[in-house]
Amino acid sequence: MIDHSEKLFNDGYTIINSCIDNKLLKKIKDTINFKLSDINEIADKKPLPKLEDNFKKAILKKSQFHVQKILSKYLMDLNLIDEIFKSPKLLQELTKLLGPDLEYMTDFEMAINSRYTNKKDTYLIKKYHQEFWSGMGIEALQLWIPIVLAKDSGTMELIKNSDKWGHIPHENKEPVFLPKKIEKIVLQISEGSVAALSALTLHKTIKNESKNIRIALPITVKNTYYPNTNNSDLFNFRKIKKSYFTRLRKTLGNSHFSPFRTKKKF
Ligand SMILES: [Fe+2]
Repeated sequence: MIDHSEKLFNDGYTIINSCIDNKLLKKIKDTINFKLSDINEIADKKPLPKLEDNFKKAILKKSQFHVQKILSKYLMDLNLIDEIFKSPKLLQELTKLLGPDLEYMTDFEMAINSRYTNKKDTYLIKKYHQEFWSGMGIEALQLWIPIVLAKDSGTMELIKNSDKWGHIPHENKEPVFLPKKIEKIVLQISEGSVAALSALTLHKTIKNESKNIRIALPITVKNTYYPNTNNSDLFNFRKIKKSYFTRLRKTLGNSHFSPFRTKKKF
């Protein structure tokens, strides 16, 4: 059994293997395809086109950025992201990594990469960056959850142990300096598994040159009580799990422990 805390500390990343059920992944894929059909104004009762074709059509109607926003919100509205975090193995490993009070950032945005993605768009094809640059603190973990990932469609590349370098000087969303000796790692991951990175681990998009679309969910998770080391307080988080301590606080309703707060008067 992998000690993910050890692996994260040693390498700046880890992969929690086979922790999301196939049925849930299929449900999410079908939901994405359904929403793309909606964007494309395909009549309700018509059979859904192939995901790749549906996506190609959708980005002719709206920008890919906009399509990703719509799809991410739709998955949130249907509580499908909550469903992911109910996956027993994933929940267990995140609890071991971060503790019993967990929450995820709801302002995430789906990352789609296909042969139809504009290769010059540095927002969609990201250069080496640290999540820290965008406000994520070192108290949190960045998850990369592949939803549609054929073997030939690429993943992401990261620099092993770059989290130990601290906050890397950057300009225009890329490092201004990198050490000469670096160990680049292409993430070896498949659908159903989840990668976890530190906020300081340098990573970048690998362009998908295959015929298959790639869809992943980059989602930040953190412990409710870990001190904010960056701009986490500017983002929205939804609870995944509450410890006994948190449940008791909620039940008591206030920090003064008002006696008999809910006792009926006679
Ligand atoms: Fe990133």
